[in-house]
Amino acid sequence: MKKKNKKEIYKIKNKSELIREELGLSYIVEKDLSPIDIKKYEHPKTTIFNDIDLNNWKDYGDIITDSLWLLGSRDKSGAHSGEYHGNFIPQIPHQAIMRYTKKKEIVLDTFLGSGTTLIECKRLGRNGIGIELLPNMVKRAKELISQEQNPFKVKTDIIEGDNTVFETIEKVKKTLRQNYNAEKVQLIIMHPPYHDIIKFSDNPNDLCNAKTTDEFLSKFSQVVKNTYPLLDEKRFLVLIIGDKYSQSEWVPLSFYTMQKVLENGYKLKSIVIKNISGNRAKRNAEQLWRRRALGGGFYIFKHEYIMFFQKR
Ligand SMILES: C[S@@+](CC[C@H](N)C(=O)[O-])C[C@H]1O[C@@H](n2cnc3c(N)ncnc32)[C@H](O)[C@@H]1O
Repeated sequence: MKKKNKKEIYKIKNKSELIREELGLSYIVEKDLSPIDIKKYEHPKTTIFNDIDLNNWKDYGDIITDSLWLLGSRDKSGAHSGEYHGNFIPQIPHQAIMRYTKKKEIVLDTFLGSGTTLIECKRLGRNGIGIELLPNMVKRAKELISQEQNPFKVKTDIIEGDNTVFETIEKVKKTLRQNYNAEKVQLIIMHPPYHDIIKFSDNPNDLCNAKTTDEFLSKFSQVVKNTYPLLDEKRFLVLIIGDKYSQSEWVPLSFYTMQKVLENGYKLKSIVIKNISGNRAKRNAEQLWRRRALGGGFYIFKHEYIMFFQKR
């Protein structure tokens, strides 16, 4: 049997390392560098779409590369409150930003909600622009984002408006020019309503109020078309979506929306399946759902999708 060296035996993870590991978050590996190590870090080998140094790829154990994401509890640190019904857990934008952007680049979230993406942007040193339809959510997102520290001095902007219309996209372009002296962003994140599963508002322009699946898909497709010219060549779009069940039929919104992205100039790079873990209130309802499932011949949703596309 291989004998463990002293360093391996006495290396005990500290509390912060353990918490970050459980949440699936990144941390910079701090090392006592030997002269050989210093040489290794002198000439980083990176791709066009992130800062990951491939010469030292073993340092990035926290970055997920498998297609099954069994994420632990929600990251509630800093300004992440988790209060908005229908938000995603911060580990999702965290992983996407680490994987598909470099420091100081610009991320566009077209369905901003409570601002989770922009909070992560501040934390990771990326600039961020969000589009959100509902004025009360814009206000709340601004409050939350301002509570997060800004160690890398990046900028965040929220555009209030309907992402399906030309005027809103013009506002994004204006913000890019005025605040960033830029024409394009380097990552697009889309976390639309899963059609009518959650009623975010009565606003007729809210995708949750689309009257049919076809109308929902046509509006979603419009958002993909509108934002396509804003993304730099060969960069990534990340779509987070789940399916729904309606009139005793499984409606695969995820595959329908995937098709819309593919029809609009992107190629598919990966489909990730992510667990959905219920809270205490949901757990009581679970027994009821189990009975319904047994009687109705269907399975209960325990997953959603994160899809990764690259601009052709
Ligand atoms: C699933 S939530 C996004 C949650 C977000 N990821 C978070 O962590 O808070 C979808 C958001 O899209 C917004 N929305 C719906 N239709 C929209 C539209 N046409 N234009 C802009 N935003 C829209 C809703 O108001 C809602 O806040």
